[in-house]
Amino acid sequence: MRDKLEELKKLEAQAELGGGEKRIEKQHAQGKLTARERIKLLLDEGSFVEFDKFVTHRCTDFGMEKQKILGDSVVTGYGTIDGRLVYVFSQDFTVFGGSLSGAHAKKICKIMDLAAKTGAPVIGLNDSGGARIQEGVESLAGYADIFLRNVLFSGVIPQISVIMGPTAGGAVYSPAVTDFTIMVKNTSFMFITGPDVIEAVTGEKITKEDLGGADVHTSKTNVAHFAAENDEDALMLVRELLQFIPQNNMEDPPFKPTDDPANRRDESIYDLVPSDPNKPYNMKDLIKKIVDDGYFFEIQENYAKNMIIGFARLGGRSVGIVANQPMFFAGALDYKAAIKAARFIRFCDAFNIPIVTLEDQPGYMPGVAQEHNGVIVHGAKLLYAYAEATVPKITLIVRKAYGGAYDVMASKHFRADVNYAYPIAEIAVMGPDGAVNILYRKDLAEAEDPVAKKAELVKMYRDKFANPYVAAGLGYIDEIIDPADTRLKLIQALELTKNKRESNPQKKHGNIPL
Ligand code: COA
Repeated sequence: MRDKLEELKKLEAQAELGGGEKRIEKQHAQGKLTARERIKLLLDEGSFVEFDKFVTHRCTDFGMEKQKILGDSVVTGYGTIDGRLVYVFSQDFTVFGGSLSGAHAKKICKIMDLAAKTGAPVIGLNDSGGARIQEGVESLAGYADIFLRNVLFSGVIPQISVIMGPTAGGAVYSPAVTDFTIMVKNTSFMFITGPDVIEAVTGEKITKEDLGGADVHTSKTNVAHFAAENDEDALMLVRELLQFIPQNNMEDPPFKPTDDPANRRDESIYDLVPSDPNKPYNMKDLIKKIVDDGYFFEIQENYAKNMIIGFARLGGRSVGIVANQPMFFAGALDYKAAIKAARFIRFCDAFNIPIVTLEDQPGYMPGVAQEHNGVIVHGAKLLYAYAEATVPKITLIVRKAYGGAYDVMASKHFRADVNYAYPIAEIAVMGPDGAVNILYRKDLAEAEDPVAKKAELVKMYRDKFANPYVAAGLGYIDEIIDPADTRLKLIQALELTKNKRESNPQKKHGNIPL
């Protein structure tokens, strides 16, 4: 037995060396950790259990039969994060550039299948030259097997992608389907065709970083949710993110008790939110004042900054926060903001995370660019996501709620459960200025003193519509609250909706506008 054990240890050590010392050194020289070092950092100490350590590729072309490396180009298995089960695959760039062979794909599919059966998240650490060129269609088939699982398990178990090196061609489509994508600055990039192909086809010259680096994908394209400083930072982000998320769609998110009192009043909110509807303020300051311990985990910070999304806790419960940001475009909804929030809402809804909406928006953003970029169809995504969501929906109109966007932002009419408003809230078809210009164009043109006339009409309009009382009188707002009590009120609403059960009509699936 002992000699056999010795042999096993030897083989294991050989597998753990991947593509060898030289390639490991090269990986380190590029500021990248190896596949195994990454897993070690990601998971609780000593919790990783590796599968398929002795699987090798089966290719016999191009002399590949002489180049077999134990485990091939991906490390797979399971372990824990904060004591909770997760499955992980980590592509090993030191072995054939982390390229995806048929065997590599099978290893990934095996842990994905187990994750779905046992109800635990899958975390993919991507660092790969793409399809294993020597294997041809077998490699392409492997990608398809992974994509299929990404889709089938979407909304069943959380799927997280970390991009820690190249991800090109078809390889980008697995991360694109997963729920959250984290990219490492400077060492990772994602694109369908790289700079060389682009230059050959279109003549455009661009660097890899400018084409598909972390900054581009977190600010321009909506492809990635986080840009991490380095490998370690990216892995810590995954650990943090998972704290807000349940293991699967049948569970609730983890409850984290807090010493922050539920009834903590905060009168500084009176000064934070200006009564003047044209004055900006930072909505993130309001969020931090009301959530447990002032801790807000923001997602997609640099994309569509007029819309804020992220996780926080209220009275220990995990919530998804969707909030307009008056600091950018006065908080107006544009097509990017709608896309950003819609996908987040659908994630929260799939995974039993209540949605808290903080509203302060002057409507959808006007502009030719908006219309021609499809603000109608993209704006409809947000409407669709809010309307179909059946998790607890709690809405606070902080200040402005204008136009169709009032309907969209989790209004009572979209089955929101508890709708609050501050006393300064304005709920109307449009802002007083615009409304008066349309309603009284003739009167203003004929007025002796148009400025005074307009001021008088604006005041009249404001007194009539720019307040929360008309909506409250119709029952569309349940309660007009003292801003200092916001935290308590939101926690009360979460408490009363904690056993909420609501469902949509039976169907195969809806047809969300895409
Ligand atoms: N299939 C097979 N082997 C691959 C591979 C692939 N798709 N991509 C990289 N490799 C191998 C290289 O041959 C090299 O092997 P070696 O260590 O034995 O010399 C090793 O992986 C590292 O690649 P290298 O090119 O030296 O690394 P790099 O950091 O300079 O460049 C890439 C990385 C990903 C930009 C580059 O390898 C590349 O362009 N690969 C092809 C990408 C592609 O078109 N994939 C198919 C489409 S999905």
